[in-house]
Amino acid sequence: MIPRRRIAFEFDDLADAVRALLAPPERAEADVAAFERAFARYVGVPHALATASGRDALGLILDGLGLRAGDELIIPAYTLGELLPLIAARGVVAVPADIDPASLNVTPDRVARRLGPRTRAILVVHLLGAPCDIRAICALADERGVPVIEDCAHALGARVDGRAVGAFGRAALFSLEATKAVAAFGGGVCTTADDALAATIRARLAGRTRRERPAVRKAFVKFAEEMVVRSPAYGLLARLMFSDRRAGGFDRFYRRANERVRGAAGAFTGFQARLALRRLAQVEARDGRLSAVRDEIVGQLPARFTVQRRDGSGTPAFYNLVALFDGDIVALRAAAQRAGLDLGIGGEVMDDTAAMLGFGDCPGAAHAHSRAVLIPLHDGMPRRRRERIVATLDRLAAELR
Ligand SMILES: Cc1ncc(COP(=O)(O)O)c(C=O)c1O
Repeated sequence: MIPRRRIAFEFDDLADAVRALLAPPERAEADVAAFERAFARYVGVPHALATASGRDALGLILDGLGLRAGDELIIPAYTLGELLPLIAARGVVAVPADIDPASLNVTPDRVARRLGPRTRAILVVHLLGAPCDIRAICALADERGVPVIEDCAHALGARVDGRAVGAFGRAALFSLEATKAVAAFGGGVCTTADDALAATIRARLAGRTRRERPAVRKAFVKFAEEMVVRSPAYGLLARLMFSDRRAGGFDRFYRRANERVRGAAGAFTGFQARLALRRLAQVEARDGRLSAVRDEIVGQLPARFTVQRRDGSGTPAFYNLVALFDGDIVALRAAAQRAGLDLGIGGEVMDDTAAMLGFGDCPGAAHAHSRAVLIPLHDGMPRRRRERIVATLDRLAAELR
């Protein structure tokens, strides 16, 4: 079975990070500060603040901007569903703006339609690493005096007119989850050029305890998961766990288990900072390798697969290869699995947050959600595997009518 994703465990990176566990606490402070400085430099903003996760960074930004119960926050209609409870917990009302079916990103026009007297902020995502039309959205928001928050969870390294995403809005959030470009087994970053906002968030973070154990535990769990994915038993397990009948239950179980292993909103640790600092230095090289393979696979996909239009507003960064299939994706995934190709499980790409919120007027998000499949692509994937992926998809596209 070709798994849909793999997690990189580089010995040198891990060995350096493990040394942080033996270092005195002042060293962790220094390592986290060094990572924050390097990250701020990379994005080109004065402040980067390391957080417990991307969603933690979003919560801190919403609080820091003073959003309160009853305020409206415009969000993308196609994004991570787990952001909704975090918004709702503050009594903030999420209002979904539909996406463009080609770019899968929100557009200035869609955002404008949702602006109202109670709009207090606009959250946009650079989905799957492709920059949204951030300049036009910021211009629109400026006219109304509403701050823009950029969700860069997928998009570290993407640029618009040579400037990194995350440097356009009032604040941005990044994720350092195990599958992201800078993978630190959890963690996130908030960036901003707003000194007052940075000071407010810094004060909140100062009250947190730095505990290495949750991050290390998570690294172990991910390592164990990776061993299963790389083992010969994975094909059989995947067939059992991701079958039509069980995929929904497995998806819920996996998301909940990940929530538990994520731990409380503690402080970013020295172990994570060392790992993140090394991986930040490798972002461009990794992106180059993965983007080249991505382009090669995309160039050979059968016509029934449409990939996201990615260069409309800037230079994209690599994030998972996702394509929309013009047919029944449940049948496609089941047939692919029988052929030894893991295309992910239901709801795994992104969620139709409009539907989750009870809005029925976001056809772009509904379309993407019902068509999107994840196509396996990992760093260092051998050519023969790539050829097998394309050949299998070719055959299935012809067979499934
Ligand atoms: C679009 C989007 N936003 C935010 C996040 C949150 O990041 P984290 O998992 O670090 O909380 C994710 C996670 O993958 C995401 O996909």
